[in-house]
Amino acid sequence: MNNNNLKGVLLCGGKGSRLYPLTKVINKHLVPVGNKPMVYYGLEKMTEAGIKEVLIVSGVEQCGTLIEQCGDGKDWGLNLTYKVQTEAGGIAQALSLAENFAGDSKLFVILGDNIFNMPTKDLTNNFSTGAKVFLKEVSDPERFGVAEVVKKMSMYGNQVQVLSIEEKPKTPKSNLAVTGLYMYDNTVFDKIRTLKASARGELEVTDLNNLYLKENSLIAEIMPENCWWTDAGTFESLAVANKLVNK
Ligand code: DAU
Repeated sequence: MNNNNLKGVLLCGGKGSRLYPLTKVINKHLVPVGNKPMVYYGLEKMTEAGIKEVLIVSGVEQCGTLIEQCGDGKDWGLNLTYKVQTEAGGIAQALSLAENFAGDSKLFVILGDNIFNMPTKDLTNNFSTGAKVFLKEVSDPERFGVAEVVKKMSMYGNQVQVLSIEEKPKTPKSNLAVTGLYMYDNTVFDKIRTLKASARGELEVTDLNNLYLKENSLIAEIMPENCWWTDAGTFESLAVANKLVNK
């Protein structure tokens, strides 16, 4: 399948400070998970989704090695382009760098340190406007964006109605984490322009998702039970990621 009206953005910026000192010598997204570099998982999910054009947003640290490893993308059947995020200004700021690349297209976005076994084939089929996020139950929601939801609406499969999303709340309203796989329509760039930096000095993807929520155009789906997801950006979650992919 060739997904013509969606382009992919793989976000590999940030400092990787939670994997320091490993990230002193290696780009965070090249750290091995199982038998391959972390970033390969995101690239594979792009291919599976039928995306052809992918922009990798990289941080400055060891960005040369990231380009060396991913090349022009032909190993994945992708056409790769690159953009450098000079400061770790947050996920939404990294995404704003994709504006020219996106043109009129909608975006399929994956965080470079997120690993999914959820199939992405056909995942984007019904996406037309607004934004779409995927939720997963976790035991440590305070590490993530957390969605407060109404209840499962069985007639829409795994779809749930979101009431609010909070970034790393001290007292989470649920154990449903917002995973690092998003779909956005082309209004995303205008929305990012209205964002203000958070207390940690970043343009937050959670604030962006809340803008879609406010205009009633955020779709949220709970990931299927038989699918797993993890980030791999801390030593603990990296160990979990290794265990899951080696299973
Ligand atoms: O893992 C999912 C979580 O990712 C979400 O639940 C949160 O809502 C979201 O904010 C994010 O949380 P983290 O604080 O764990 O994200 P982190 O700073 O580790 O960044 C994750 C990836 O995003 C990173 O591997 C590359 C990309 N990124 C991040 C930042 C801060 C960028 O491209 N540029 C950036 O400036």
